[in-house]
Amino acid sequence: MKYSPTLQINEQSKKLIASGETVYQLGFGQSPFPVPKSVVEALQTNARQKDYLPVMGLLSLREAIANYYQNKLNYPVSAEFIMIGPGSKELIFLCQMVKNWHVLLPSPSWVSYAPQATYANNKLSWVSTTFENHWQIKAQDLATVCQQIQAPKLLILNYPNNPTGQTYQAEELQEIAMVAKKYKLTIIADEIYERLHFSGEHHSLTTYYPEGTIISSGISKWCGAGGWRLGHFVFPETLRALQNEMAALASETFSCVSAPIQYATIKAYTNYEAMEDYIKRPKIVLQAIAEYMATQFNQVNIKCHNASGGFYLFPDFEAHRGFLSSINIFTSKQLAAYLFNQFKIATLPGSAFGMDESQLCLRLAYVDFDGSTALTNYKQFQKLKQHEKLLEQLIPKLHKATGLICNWLQ
Ligand SMILES: Cc1ncc(COP(=O)(O)O)c(C=O)c1O
Repeated sequence: MKYSPTLQINEQSKKLIASGETVYQLGFGQSPFPVPKSVVEALQTNARQKDYLPVMGLLSLREAIANYYQNKLNYPVSAEFIMIGPGSKELIFLCQMVKNWHVLLPSPSWVSYAPQATYANNKLSWVSTTFENHWQIKAQDLATVCQQIQAPKLLILNYPNNPTGQTYQAEELQEIAMVAKKYKLTIIADEIYERLHFSGEHHSLTTYYPEGTIISSGISKWCGAGGWRLGHFVFPETLRALQNEMAALASETFSCVSAPIQYATIKAYTNYEAMEDYIKRPKIVLQAIAEYMATQFNQVNIKCHNASGGFYLFPDFEAHRGFLSSINIFTSKQLAAYLFNQFKIATLPGSAFGMDESQLCLRLAYVDFDGSTALTNYKQFQKLKQHEKLLEQLIPKLHKATGLICNWLQ
């Protein structure tokens, strides 16, 4: 088994930085924004919480999260169907472990789903996508893959998406839901970037396929608290047995999430309006950067969809294949290695996300900037496109990295 490529690139970059190099860190998707002050204060207040908590999570936190979903989705969730884990990554892994699944993944998909399937001895099938379809699966293609599989099927669908920055419209989710009903899929709807949907028009698969959908989310992205390690699953009542099996496995492994973190996270979910207000500024900043970078890439024929949410762009260098092959770049891995060695730009190759090696796509995480300064100056980001000076001031490294890539291929 290999080390997770996303953590690996982060550690490689940090080593170079420690030796005095400038590295453009577009490899690791960590929120650059500070955790909201009220949530940090809640952690300080709760530092003395030291007892083990229930395996499924602190009841008052589960109630707060249930209320959040009622407010947000008008989805009647009860606290008993919420499970807290040390990051949603761990919960997704537990879910893969407790049953002999046949896992279905769009290609591309987030880096850890497929290795987790291998660790859990699950079978795996990819559902392919295209640039034209915004790297999203089509219901018909999903149905074709499902027809060939007898075993219990687990689809993991992430939107807004890492690595592509794209998301599904309500009608697309409805079509997927119809296939899911027909083939009795269990679905993990990985909605961890839901609150970073730029226009706020996030739709959940739960609305169309409640009986088989588990929502996966947490505080790593919207709340900037990746290192706090807290995520949650929302189960439908129909999947209570699965939830219980996961709880049994959790009880024999991590026992519970750190108590101070659980108490502090109540704050992150109780004041819905205040948190929605907090997220407005990061969204303006992220949207402006995504638009700027995607526009620059498209101008030099690096095809790139603008992002709908989250931290990522997924440019396709296919139009430059002739030039790239003349310098011995035939795969996305070689392309990423070249950018790292030549320009110190850290990215991840499309192949880390289940794409065919020869597809010349990269994932760029556009988070290498000072999040606190960006929030103070968030109004300036709305004028980002027109002002070269602003780009240098507000996102110097992203500006430089974008320029290096574009000039190289121009
Ligand atoms: C799509 C996606 N799902 C899940 C995770 C895991 O997040 P966490 O374990 O911090 O909740 C990440 C983190 O990068 C992600 O990008």
